[in-house]
Amino acid sequence: MESKAYYSNQRRIRANQHIRELAATVQLHHKEFIQPLFVDESITKRTSIDTLNEINSDTIDTVLQQIESDIAKGITKFLLFPVPVSKTESDFNYDFATRVFRKIKATFGDAVWVAADVCLCSYTSHGHCGILNKAGNKVFNNESVKELAKYALQLAQAGADCIAPSDMMDGRIGAIRAKLDKHNLDDISIMSYSAKFSSQLYGPFRDACKSTPAMGSNLHDRKSYQSSPFNANDAILSTLRDINEGADIVMVKPALPYLDIITRLKQTTQHPLAAYHVSGEYQALELLAQNNIIDRSKAHIETWTSLKRGGADIIISYASRHAKQWIEEINF
Ligand code: PBG
Ligand code: ZN
Repeated sequence: MESKAYYSNQRRIRANQHIRELAATVQLHHKEFIQPLFVDESITKRTSIDTLNEINSDTIDTVLQQIESDIAKGITKFLLFPVPVSKTESDFNYDFATRVFRKIKATFGDAVWVAADVCLCSYTSHGHCGILNKAGNKVFNNESVKELAKYALQLAQAGADCIAPSDMMDGRIGAIRAKLDKHNLDDISIMSYSAKFSSQLYGPFRDACKSTPAMGSNLHDRKSYQSSPFNANDAILSTLRDINEGADIVMVKPALPYLDIITRLKQTTQHPLAAYHVSGEYQALELLAQNNIIDRSKAHIETWTSLKRGGADIIISYASRHAKQWIEEINF
């Protein structure tokens, strides 16, 4: 067959906003955004997080005001990080976290959907996401999974709509699903941080959650339990495994450096796929904007658009509460 050059005049398609809107292959909508929230037991008033522009740690009371103002801006889905005051190595106490969920649900009921981040790193004195051995150089997978399932059950009983385990232990999705089902909580969904990479981009978050792996342990990073940036197979396999174990939503985190994983997962699974634009990615854009190097809202919109184009269905962003307004204002 004779090969022909493919006829294309792209400038006519770029000529004005009307035709650009018609030709767009991707659209953003605020309904697909989730807003992270930090609730910290150690504070008595709303406290700004120095390394995370415009984001606060809330008290159990101020988080209600935050949610109310977010609802007014069109955001109804949240990912909540409870930060307890006391840190131990075992016998964790989940009372603060469950109190937060009870209060939110008593106030807002089904007007909001609140996912609970489930991990031990804001509970452990060493800052790791699981229970360590005596020598402090190894995470016990199975002991940690048991504890996570116990925590997940308490959160679900307190009203969490979704359980979002971020610890990256093996087998936790199956264990949590079984635990919830056993207690007739089969309608509570699970959003797995399934492709969570060991990353440099979590710094501001760890400040907020006081969860930096401490020097007290003999394990100084999370490489032995989080996915390696050098191994795409690991992220894909972890995600497929989590789906088999019952994950309803899967996630890639961080987002932009792992756009290839987002696209591959979109092609491989039919499960809802969330992209978490993490604290370091968010703050990078915020700092550039503060220095008048980029336009803040346009930079976030461009980033979110790339995540959608790449295959994400759901976006978790610290700027979610601006999504509705910024999306309305974009010029294509
Ligand atoms: C804890 C957790 C982390 C994030 C979400 N849950 C940090 C980590 O693994 O150290 C990162 C979120 C962000 O940086 O915005 N397991
Ligand atoms: Zn953790």
